Amino acid sequence: MARSKISLIGGGQIGGVLAQLCALRELGDVVLFDIVENMPQGKMLDIAEVARVDQFDVDLKGTNEYKDIAGSDIVIVTAGLPRKPGMSRDDLLAVNAKIMKQVSEGIKEFAPDAFVIIISNPLDAMVTLCQKVTGFPAERVMGQAGVLDSNRFCTFIAWELGVSVRDVNAMVLGGHGDTMVPIVRYANVNGVPVMEQLVRKHGESKAKEVMTAMVERTKMAGGEVVKLLGNGSAFYSPASSAIAMAEAILRDQKRVLPVCALLKGEFGVDNYYVGVPCVLGADGIENIIEFELDEEEQALFNNSVAAVKGLIDELPNILPDMADVLKS
Ligand code: APR
Repeated sequence: MARSKISLIGGGQIGGVLAQLCALRELGDVVLFDIVENMPQGKMLDIAEVARVDQFDVDLKGTNEYKDIAGSDIVIVTAGLPRKPGMSRDDLLAVNAKIMKQVSEGIKEFAPDAFVIIISNPLDAMVTLCQKVTGFPAERVMGQAGVLDSNRFCTFIAWELGVSVRDVNAMVLGGHGDTMVPIVRYANVNGVPVMEQLVRKHGESKAKEVMTAMVERTKMAGGEVVKLLGNGSAFYSPASSAIAMAEAILRDQKRVLPVCALLKGEFGVDNYYVGVPCVLGADGIENIIEFELDEEEQALFNNSVAAVKGLIDELPNILPDMADVLKS
């Protein structure tokens, strides 16, 4: 059986880690594309030259030509600028929208049957743009944000309770910006509510304070890393998170993961991409798992969707030649 083919558009910090993870997990043959000459070729040579040590058998190719992504099963996009300390993801809109348009045209022409996972920020707007430019069915175009945001939330809970993060379940929904919505009500450790454990540990009012601090840290977690790095944004964690999504699709795992997906009425939202729990399998986004939000959660979710809408509304000003497609 032929191996799967994964193409990575953007060979920077995240792109390099993605390539290495694809190889280590033998997910398939990998093409790393970047506009910078020689750099993707150098990174792929570097990874290929340790195949014997790491024991993988996949072909790795670095390229500056879109034609090399032909036949891809999955394309993962990280092309675009990362933020600098003090910037929000939304500040990247104008520059990354132009890059995303170009990248999406390349994918449309050379990998028309691929599933596309976007990582570039601002995430929800970039996924929207890619879907509009490619015209691919919505179940094939999605964004990685929720897997990482949820994992960050789980990590902080695990540290607070002194338990293995593997036993923590907690999800973050909404847009991948400062308005994202960590869902406290369903956060649990092997089924036991996190809030109940916090109350037992700290008492009622302190428990709320501790949870609020974890929620706020989750929302700002990307910025915390940006500040510490000083130059660039998180790259190990977004790469691993996108690989979990790619693996779910390639191995038809039916994983339930928070994914930036196109909503068509679910959660009261029509025709916008935001993060919600989805079933990921061989057909891409196979199902959106809808559930009842309480009043406060729904208000926070709506607020987050409004922030995404604000960015989408700006896209026609940035890409005037795309105005008709963007309004469709
Ligand atoms: N086509 C392809 N690649 C491009 C293009 C383009 N038009 N423009 C820029 N790139 C490449 C750059 O050459 C660079 O190698 O995208 C790569 C981005 O890599 P980094 O700058 O290292 O950024 P990274 O940390 O990987 O983040 C990429 O993901 O999480 C988001 O906010 C982050 O938007 C950023 C993206």
